[in-house]
Amino acid sequence: MGQDPGSGPLEQVTLLRAGDRSDAIYDEWADTYESDLLDRFGYSGHRIAADALLEHLTDPGAAIVDYGCGTGLVGELLGAAGCRIVDGVDYSARMLDVCRAKACYRSTIEADLTRPLDIPDRTYDAMICAGVMGAGHLEPEHFAELFRTVRPGGPIVLFGNATPYVEEGYAARFAALDWTIERTETVNYMAALNRPGALVIGRR
Ligand SMILES: C[S@@+](CC[C@H](N)C(=O)[O-])C[C@H]1O[C@@H](n2cnc3c(N)ncnc32)[C@H](O)[C@@H]1O
Repeated sequence: MGQDPGSGPLEQVTLLRAGDRSDAIYDEWADTYESDLLDRFGYSGHRIAADALLEHLTDPGAAIVDYGCGTGLVGELLGAAGCRIVDGVDYSARMLDVCRAKACYRSTIEADLTRPLDIPDRTYDAMICAGVMGAGHLEPEHFAELFRTVRPGGPIVLFGNATPYVEEGYAARFAALDWTIERTETVNYMAALNRPGALVIGRR
């Protein structure tokens, strides 16, 4: 499955290899991330993921965690839909600065999602994670620690680059984790590029 890597910081994060970190690139990109992705490349991953989660939420008071919240695009959509309790977690301090200025999260936490998290088991009713799938970001095995923080039965929505999803066997690797996958879908998520994304919806 081929994809256009884009250019500038988008290309840099797209071409990262297993074991690389991406926080320095996102720190540098933070101030122009939204204009770049939304206006230039037509990014819609945040919207695809948020819409999928909203289909599964019945209670606007549900406690939701947004892993890899970045500048808060997902939180803005969830807030606009009436969700009142959304926490965001990310390891880029500069992306979090932009996010915090929007005040659409109950709290934001700076943490590396490839490491054990200081969040108790079953803290959240639902989880969303958009644009954080692949080398230099999160691989399927990293999600076990994130799923632990969601209560049994809680909806989980993941959305990310479909190229590693297909080429690196993510479907089987996600299926091996402690959750039930209900639906997967492939959809282009950058209108200006050939950039297929994988939407994975399941329950803890
Ligand atoms: C493409 S952005 C997506 C941001 C947001 N979810 C969106 O849809 O616009 C990826 C985000 O994941 C964060 N990220 C990548 N790897 C991470 C890790 N190991 N721990 C915490 N955050 C990570 C980056 O800092 C960045 O903010």
